[in-house]
Amino acid sequence: EKGGYETFMEKEIHEQPHAVRDTLLGRTDEDGQLILDDMRISEEELAAVDRIYVVACGTASYAGMTAKYAIEHWTRIPVEVSLAHEFRYCDPIVDERTLVVSISQSGETMDTLMAVKHARELGARTLSICNTHGSTIPRESDAVLYTHAGPEIAVASTKAFVAQITACFVLGLYLAQLRGETYADDAKQVMAELHGVPDKLESLLGTMDRVEEIARFMADSRAVLFLGRHVGYPIAMEGALKLKELAYIHAEGFAAGELKHGPIALIEPGQPVFVVVPGPDTPHELHKKVVSNIQEIRARGARTLVIAEEGDEDVVPFADEVIRVPHTSPLLQPLLTVVPLQVFALHLSTAKGLDVDQPRNLAKSVTVE
Ligand code: F6R
Repeated sequence: EKGGYETFMEKEIHEQPHAVRDTLLGRTDEDGQLILDDMRISEEELAAVDRIYVVACGTASYAGMTAKYAIEHWTRIPVEVSLAHEFRYCDPIVDERTLVVSISQSGETMDTLMAVKHARELGARTLSICNTHGSTIPRESDAVLYTHAGPEIAVASTKAFVAQITACFVLGLYLAQLRGETYADDAKQVMAELHGVPDKLESLLGTMDRVEEIARFMADSRAVLFLGRHVGYPIAMEGALKLKELAYIHAEGFAAGELKHGPIALIEPGQPVFVVVPGPDTPHELHKKVVSNIQEIRARGARTLVIAEEGDEDVVPFADEVIRVPHTSPLLQPLLTVVPLQVFALHLSTAKGLDVDQPRNLAKSVTVE
């Protein structure tokens, strides 16, 4: 049942190329127009949407944070990502032109369900991105976009995460198309690039031996920090969450730009820090800025574990380890950069002799508030 892998989590990490491929399957018609499942919202209503809330918990909320950059860029609709359990208490600004997008692997997370119900009471249109057919959240929503990651057994979410990001991209491109011609060409190009991601994931997964080794050497780490910027920021938080839940190590993800506003005080000799580096073609010189963050923490003795694109030589002088990912356009990078962080947490947990698939105190779906 584990397909030759030691754990479900390892199997599911290796199923990520399929999760992305299958989630994209059947999403475009012969004219290249995007199609969604189960739409009980009219195109007119969707075209009129002027605000989006994403409600989700944990890893699913990081998928939402990642997607926010892409959806805002393509649609120019403001997107706010709210932890589902905070949504009701923040007096959200919601009306019938608001689209509330819930993201949930299980479709049974009570916090997320309650946020969806609250959104409906306030008159919002609700759309569920979900991995489980027939589950509660899709049934309670006006529209559904299923992710096709297949059943996820390990408690820690991996393949559902990349499928959620993929589904959010499909939604963003669809909304962009509904809103006007200008984005149509963009959409085709992004879809074409998305279709190339599964192969890149496949080749990336074939290069994870060194990450496994690093994890084994780090089994007695007390704290690990993760830095990222732009779409790398939610990935840093996801890397930290994976390490907390699987290896019971204190871990924190930061926006790299925030370092100098406080967290840099945590850097002492030997402190391991993962840095997710934006591709060299990311706008606004973000690449250069993150490289100089690496330089700053290295100068203070940090052990820098750098995730960078193939061919990015600028990081080499300041990196104790360079973990390579294939090139993609900046918004799609999270689909790749998350992989080494999942693999790292998996092997560190294994090296500590812990139960990877069933970490302590956690349940696969959290059906209480
Ligand atoms: C982390 C993890 C959790 C879930 C969260 C939401 O690895 O699995 O953070 O992502 O509990 O669960 P779903 O997506 O089922 O609503």
